[in-house]
Amino acid sequence: MNTPQHIKAKKTSGSKIIMLTAYDFIVARLLDEVGVDIVLVGDTLGSVFAGHDTTLPVSMDDMIYHTKVVSKAVQSAIVIGDMPFMSYQESMETARRNAGRFLKEAGAQAVKVEIGLGQVEIVKELVKIGIPVMAHIGFTPQSVYQIGGYRIQGKTSEAEAQLLELAEKVQEAGAFAVVLELCSYKVAKAITDSLQIPTIGIGAGPDCDGQVLVTQDLLGMTVGGVPNFVKTYATIFKDMKQAITQFKKDVQSHKFPESFSE
Ligand code: KIV
Repeated sequence: MNTPQHIKAKKTSGSKIIMLTAYDFIVARLLDEVGVDIVLVGDTLGSVFAGHDTTLPVSMDDMIYHTKVVSKAVQSAIVIGDMPFMSYQESMETARRNAGRFLKEAGAQAVKVEIGLGQVEIVKELVKIGIPVMAHIGFTPQSVYQIGGYRIQGKTSEAEAQLLELAEKVQEAGAFAVVLELCSYKVAKAITDSLQIPTIGIGAGPDCDGQVLVTQDLLGMTVGGVPNFVKTYATIFKDMKQAITQFKKDVQSHKFPESFSE
């Protein structure tokens, strides 16, 4: 079984950490069979699974339901539940209660939390009560309106210094790993070199200790485009469409089901 300690040890051994998202049983089982280190039940389920424009409408109940399903499928990887918008911002008590639900009700081993400079205490509080925390910094999608769009973070030297300071603070607060989303490659490398805990990048270049993608993006299982940092390894949406079109044609032309003698 993978644990946050195993993930931390990977930084020392220099072996890259593989994290992918899952929201359902079949994808989660697939990731586990391949041997990914971390299965993230991301709040991207709001857009990828439920078709919203942002992750903001995702509720704790949505997250608990999907995390339960994923936990049932996973035998080796760590399952991490993503704290959705307004599940930790209101008060420390709410943050503790909601983070606890991921471990107590949904079978996750850790939580991921989007963290800005004013929110480092949340990491500390959760770690204090025994909940392993992966901090998510850089571009934090729950703050998309405040940030003003999907923008690369840490581009100026001031922004770079701020991001490095935040990464150091979440490490100090006890996070076992940190996701760097849409960060300049330069700042991602500087953070990776400076921290003892691993960095896991998404759109943050090749120097992070691991990489995460939304599984549907890498499988080509999307409607519309994918971010330009994604490499698409399959054409699943197209292949499924072809198969379903063929089924439709076969039924219409009486080719399916085939007649056979009973
Ligand atoms: O919600 C999510 O899936 C994420 C990853 C893309 C890092 O936060």
